[in-house]
Amino acid sequence: MLDKSKWISAPSEFGTVCPMFRKTFDAKREISCAKLKITAIGCYVAHINGKRVGSFVLAPGWTAYHSRLQVQEYDVTGLLEEENTLDIEAGDGWHLGRLAWIEAKKFGKNPSVIFELEIKYKDGTASLIVSDETTKISKSPILFSSIYDGEIFDSRVEEFKWEPAKVMEYTKDTLIPQEGEEIVEVERLTPIAVTKSKTGYVLDFGQNLTGYVEFTVNAPYGHVVELYHGEILDKSGDVYIDNLRSALQRIQFIANGKKTTYKPKFTFQGFRYVRVVNWIGEPDPKDFTAIVVHSNIKRTGYFSCSNEKVNKLFENIIWGQKGNFLDVPTDCPQRDERLGWTGDAQMFIKTATYNFDVERFFIKWLSDLAVEQFEDGGVPAVIPNVLGKVSSSSSAWGDAAVICPWQIYLSYGNKEILKRQYDSMCKWIDYIKNQGDNPYIWNTGHHYGDWLGLDAPYGSYVGATDKSLIATAYFAYSTAIVIKAGKVLGYDTTEYEKLYDNVKKAFQDTFIKDGRLTSDTQTAHALVIFFDLADDLAPFGERLNTLIKENGNKLTTGFVGTPYLLHALSKTGYHETAYSLLLQEEFPSWLYSVNQGATTIWEHWDGINDEGKLWSADMNSFNHYAYGAVADWMYEVMAGIKIDESSPAFSNIIFEPITDKRIDFVSASIETKNGVVSSSWKRDGKTVTYTFNVPQGTTATIYLNGSKYTVESGEHVFTTEE
Ligand code: BGC
Repeated sequence: MLDKSKWISAPSEFGTVCPMFRKTFDAKREISCAKLKITAIGCYVAHINGKRVGSFVLAPGWTAYHSRLQVQEYDVTGLLEEENTLDIEAGDGWHLGRLAWIEAKKFGKNPSVIFELEIKYKDGTASLIVSDETTKISKSPILFSSIYDGEIFDSRVEEFKWEPAKVMEYTKDTLIPQEGEEIVEVERLTPIAVTKSKTGYVLDFGQNLTGYVEFTVNAPYGHVVELYHGEILDKSGDVYIDNLRSALQRIQFIANGKKTTYKPKFTFQGFRYVRVVNWIGEPDPKDFTAIVVHSNIKRTGYFSCSNEKVNKLFENIIWGQKGNFLDVPTDCPQRDERLGWTGDAQMFIKTATYNFDVERFFIKWLSDLAVEQFEDGGVPAVIPNVLGKVSSSSSAWGDAAVICPWQIYLSYGNKEILKRQYDSMCKWIDYIKNQGDNPYIWNTGHHYGDWLGLDAPYGSYVGATDKSLIATAYFAYSTAIVIKAGKVLGYDTTEYEKLYDNVKKAFQDTFIKDGRLTSDTQTAHALVIFFDLADDLAPFGERLNTLIKENGNKLTTGFVGTPYLLHALSKTGYHETAYSLLLQEEFPSWLYSVNQGATTIWEHWDGINDEGKLWSADMNSFNHYAYGAVADWMYEVMAGIKIDESSPAFSNIIFEPITDKRIDFVSASIETKNGVVSSSWKRDGKTVTYTFNVPQGTTATIYLNGSKYTVESGEHVFTTEE
């Protein structure tokens, strides 16, 4: 790919200043089509004759660059004239900028681009314009850009000093066609309030979001305006930025004395509020727009019910997904992480597939996971792996290697992904088997455990559930998935079946004593039930129910237990308790954050406690999607829309809604590969009316009040008496 093109780069003397590459060429005959293939080490934005090429923000996206760098192809036929200028600005992006706790410029490279523009003329001739030493380069007005830290833009730079670009011998072996979704600008929000604070003015966009602010400035030549982005306000009403850790999330704009509209190009921020410093006069909300950016994933899932707070929670889950599906499934979009944490991704993936079409998004990320997997089968905690060899292969995190491809198969019927990832899935299981002396129990190595669980002493980051119990439970669960995936692909799974039986038996022998779990926690019970690790689940359901009741209908679970908690209760018949947890409004609960004014999902149940005190600034994100995984219980149990594993992609749908007297109606729909599936129910006195929609070419199995119905496509209405 790009055989005739050369990598061209900014010289080191440019320092932090972003380069602008320029190629001029003519196209004097009638054009039939023109295609630009381009990528960068760093991020780029291209313009032809002043018009933006495509709409990909932060192109070429974020992959495991050492082996995979996506090349974009744009149809630019409509942008060409007789005489043309191709301008390409480039910044550090994820490739060259600092990420996590690693030094910037770790690859010792400067922003570089490679491109090829093929023009086909109507007379049958063609020409090829490529990046090479004839391409020119100049400093751009972007003096500094960084994913975490923001941008410095000097609008006084209006003239460019062109010199020949530096040709570099960088490899082209890593180049691959665009595989994931493009990141695009999706929505625009204007401030709902402007207030004065001790450091300037505060803009409130009314929604915690991921993106950047476009603003129009009219300030004297050399005047510097600053924007600081944060998620909440401090007690004085100013923007709180301590939880960003080292990420500055700052925009500095140097005015040129003329009215100018600007938005950053190579950075993004996670924010609801913006502190505006040094503005001339009072900011006019009309001069500011928050632009929401995320991967171009299509919304597919909708849910509403008679409880407005639950509806707000659902909306917050959607915003959490939008904010963290920016090319890679990230933990959070604001502090100095924004990394593809594997655990968070696997916990949320089912909800993610219902809410949006994320098939292509995960195909790309899972390819990165496979290439980042260690020799011994271990899976780094973040993908792409910017933490290097030291990254631990923790249980529940590394299991993303197995759980994510399986969910993409179930939700979209994509067998190809199972085939592609099968090796990687097996390698993860084999890795676990090889840890420690006992091949059936995983009790060695570093694990994150029930991350942020509440049943450990206050201030601790890890819940009380025994890490070996969690690790072994996941070992069994992932092995069971590998067996199912192997069977779908027609492979021999005998070895994994034997392994599964042994792991399950070892789990029972080690972690169940006298019929009780050695960790008497909600999380341990949720795992045993959800993963089917006991021969009789009933006593564990009963114990889980008791633990919750004794705790005042409140949860104690962290990252590991929370996604399964309500499902485990429902599976063992304790629907009412599951509903109680969802409807709980006191801390800790989902609705607690809603009552506190949350517009996204918090990382901590007590991000802000009842007295208004914040959890330590070290680790307190207000946009962490993980606990939003509760939405899959809302779809599957409240609305009752479930995937039939033997008929993936909803080609046979299971409907099994469970009502609760505290809710008067529920309505949900999922746009599946086979059409829109919907389910709703409504109570009128003692009568409940259910309506199910089964798309053309699909069938459904309906379970209602102990009866089973098999139906064809169309609308199906049932009424029952409560
Ligand atoms: C991230 C989490 C992640 C965790 C590992 C944190 O810093 O934000 O979401 O899963 O580390 O325990």
